Amino acid sequence: MPPNHLSPAAIITQTADFIREKFLGEGSGHDWDHIRRVWQTSRAIAATLPRADPLVTELGALLHDVADWKFHAGDEEAGPRAARAWLTGLGVDEAVVQRVETIIREISFKGLGVPTPMSTPEGEAVQDADRLEAIGAIGVARAFAYGGHKGRPLHDPAVPPVQHESFESYKQNSAPTINHFYEKLLHLRQRLHTPAARRLAEERHQFMEAFLAQFLREWDGRDVAEL
Ligand code: ADP
Ligand code: NI
Repeated sequence: MPPNHLSPAAIITQTADFIREKFLGEGSGHDWDHIRRVWQTSRAIAATLPRADPLVTELGALLHDVADWKFHAGDEEAGPRAARAWLTGLGVDEAVVQRVETIIREISFKGLGVPTPMSTPEGEAVQDADRLEAIGAIGVARAFAYGGHKGRPLHDPAVPPVQHESFESYKQNSAPTINHFYEKLLHLRQRLHTPAARRLAEERHQFMEAFLAQFLREWDGRDVAEL
């Protein structure tokens, strides 16, 4: 059967298998389980949006980290290019390929001062799902996994958080991991698009705030001082 006869279900299964293989065991917090959760959460969010196309949403979620600029020398087109190569190889319609590329191009956080609107409802579902993965217990774990992967200290009170006003400044950042909470993670709740994601974010955000309060309490030895 020629590849352009693949059903939407087969396109999704083959893409999931390709991405699972590529990302199994990845150690910077961009592992297959992250992508699998973004896939499931994107589907659940998209189901609440009347205009989101399921195939575009699922392919966008599965391919959103396929070649992240953070791991490709800052090349922002590496992801869209890799997604196009994979999808055209499966014979996927050009219109679908373009909409998936757009999601990947628009999804990344680029600094607190840089707006990152999504131009499609599918993109809103996928970006919200990805951002929910950066907050809560999993978000805390991923931040330290990423920081460790980059060899960064956990915390340094002498290095204050910075409000990045440009993508260039955000990209060059190499601050301790705790700063990332103040430079990005604590702000994500306000940057979600969909009511469903905002509901999910509430508990996760509160957990992250509680984690930070306890981290700093232990760092400063306030609990020990109370012995
Ligand atoms: P985004 O699409 O918003 O760039 P990703 O899905 O690529 O997000 O994943 C980013 C993950 O890596 C998040 O969990 C985030 O907290 C973590 N991360 C990214 N940059 C840093 C950093 N400088 N310090 C700690 N964690 C980071
Ligand atoms: Ni991601």
